[in-house]
Amino acid sequence: MQAIALSAQGAQPTLTELPTPQPAAGEVLVRVQASSVNGFDLSVAGGHLAAMMEHRYPVVLGKDFAGVVEAIGEGVTSYQPGDPVFGVVTKAYLGDGGFGEYVTVSEQVGLAKLPEGADPKSAGALGLAGTAAVDTLAATAPQSGETVLISGATGGVGAIAIQYAVAAGATVIATARPGAETDFVRGLGAHEVVDHSGDVPAQVRAVSPDGVNVILHLAGDGATLAALLTEKGRLASLLGFGADQHPAATFVYANPAPATLDRLAADLAAGRLTVPVAKSYTLAEVPAAFDDFAGGTLGKIAITV
Ligand SMILES: NC(=O)c1ccc[n+]([C@@H]2O[C@H](COP(=O)([O-])OP(=O)(O)OC[C@H]3O[C@@H](n4cnc5c(N)ncnc54)[C@H](OP(=O)(O)O)[C@@H]3O)[C@@H](O)[C@H]2O)c1
Repeated sequence: MQAIALSAQGAQPTLTELPTPQPAAGEVLVRVQASSVNGFDLSVAGGHLAAMMEHRYPVVLGKDFAGVVEAIGEGVTSYQPGDPVFGVVTKAYLGDGGFGEYVTVSEQVGLAKLPEGADPKSAGALGLAGTAAVDTLAATAPQSGETVLISGATGGVGAIAIQYAVAAGATVIATARPGAETDFVRGLGAHEVVDHSGDVPAQVRAVSPDGVNVILHLAGDGATLAALLTEKGRLASLLGFGADQHPAATFVYANPAPATLDRLAADLAAGRLTVPVAKSYTLAEVPAAFDDFAGGTLGKIAITV
């Protein structure tokens, strides 16, 4: 199969011909149709996780995937060949990834069926960002009428989080620069916009003088943001800002549990959730997609396989 892989530590991501993987017991082999770029992929490609996770070379990049079940391993009962699926490659080591024509994943985690009506390209850009959005909102539980500040609202996670926070009945303050970024977050339902290239605390106080009940920390400085919380406010961070730094903060590590993925898939299929895909690249174009991502994109960058 064709895949974007690292051949060894320090190697650049390269389109490579690799043997098609075979599903082990409890695993499903997926024929990948779509994936997307996440910051995690750039970290792996940059060698930043070399000391933190086992790498089994060649390391195929890509956390997200959507496609069709090609084969099932021994003992798999919930999936059949032909099932449309999506999810997040979640293994204890790095080696298997969504930037390839096939990937093996566990039946137990990071995998869910795609209902009719959920298009694979959107689903391929949804797994990790959607899970991170759902998990940060679960950690902070915004109630109807509360105010939610989303710092990093223009990214993949933020774009999903805005929609769910609005659906929960919250008043959403989103970070975005003037112009296209502001139009983007307003289009997803944000009620107020603050420009993160300016003084965020002053702008937030201007629209919400008593502070905010919930903060989703997807970008920016956690401590500066946490100072905007009301007395019973909650902050969830994807960036390592946790209880050690502030009593109201929770560091969230996205966990693509089947129930979370099922919810995302159902919302996508029903049209309750939009996955804004700014641009699509082929497997061979992944290096260009990484450059685009690093330069700042609204929402997601899709990879079509
Ligand atoms: N812990 C976990 O499990 C987990 C899971 C998923 C993601 N993450 C991390 O969470 C972060 C968000 O993920 P993502 O996929 O949404 O990333 P992304 O698509 O790169 O989005 C980040 C957004 O933040 C904006 N931004 C940059 N600096 C900012 C600032 N000071 N204030 C407000 N916004 C700012 C960027 O906009 P501009 O273009 O205007 O700069 C960009 O749109 C990433 O760092 C990612 O690695 C962690």
